[in-house]
Amino acid sequence: MRIGMLTSGGDAPGLNAVIRGAVLVGTSVYHHEFVGFTDGWKGLVENDTLPLTRHEVKGISKQGGTILGTSRTNPFEGRGGVDRINEVFAENRLDALIAIGGEGTLAAAKRLTDAGIRIVGVPKTVDNDLDATDYTFGFDTAVQIATEAMDRLRTTGDAHNRCMVAEVMGRHVGWIALHSGMAAGAHAILIPEQNTSMEQLCAWVQSAYDRGRAPLVVVAEGFTLDGADEPHSERGLDAFGRPRLGGIGELIAPMIEARTGIETRATTLGHIQRGGTPSAFDRVLATRLGMAAIAAVNDERWGEMVALRGTEIVRVPFEAALGSLKTVPQERYDEAALLFG
Ligand code: F6P
Repeated sequence: MRIGMLTSGGDAPGLNAVIRGAVLVGTSVYHHEFVGFTDGWKGLVENDTLPLTRHEVKGISKQGGTILGTSRTNPFEGRGGVDRINEVFAENRLDALIAIGGEGTLAAAKRLTDAGIRIVGVPKTVDNDLDATDYTFGFDTAVQIATEAMDRLRTTGDAHNRCMVAEVMGRHVGWIALHSGMAAGAHAILIPEQNTSMEQLCAWVQSAYDRGRAPLVVVAEGFTLDGADEPHSERGLDAFGRPRLGGIGELIAPMIEARTGIETRATTLGHIQRGGTPSAFDRVLATRLGMAAIAAVNDERWGEMVALRGTEIVRVPFEAALGSLKTVPQERYDEAALLFG
């Protein structure tokens, strides 16, 4: 078979390991050929291709980013659409496409599959917010990076007796905040799923401070401040029309300082969480997903994506990944909150 491959949406550590896993097993076991499309759906619509042989994927599973490039492009916009994509399929003599991406990518993949285009999906998001898979690759790396950063914030916070606020990614859900905050021993964790008042937050900060600790507050970028209708956003919209988040940490730090009198500093970890070498866990997960995507192509399971359930890689229809978010359950937050303050 000739198989196209693209990575779309925000990058996540492990994308290259998916590509390598798929290309290695595809070429050496099944004698498939591969065509890489650059910058997500954009490359498919514009027929912008890269060769993808064993040679190109040599040693890339430890590399961050994606050798194919990525973008947030809607394949139905501009000169895109079903007819154009069928044309590009024909020009490249493609039998199938593997689309690696998050909710937006999988939603587009579903529309295209419904129109008869042969696509298998691989889920991706550092936020870990896709319901149909237990973990997405990139999440473990992001948590590790955030935890290491917080360990550092704690030593400088301790040295100055300051409250340190660390802002992490998490548009709709607080998994990165919950896991990195727990790992770093945060005194408060603020996530999009929970309404936490400034009064409660300052009580946790004060109680940690009164015990002689430098309070660490972890806040997810998608947290909504008490009394606000939306998460904090001051940077316009992204290509999918979603508000660009970021800055909530800088917003709450002076509020904490004003209410408690404790000197407070904020750090936004931002894209550092998505860059660099993937963890071993993410490399293994991503490699297995890439290999499983080839098995799904071999079985002609169009409209399905590969996913992690427990320790097994399974196949689920695209629609199972769409529409419902994997939020932090109340009991997981309550469990973490027992250690706040
Ligand atoms: O969706 C994943 C994510 O990492 C979000 O947490 C964040 O809001 C967004 O991507 C930022 O991505 P970018 O700056 O690349 O648009």
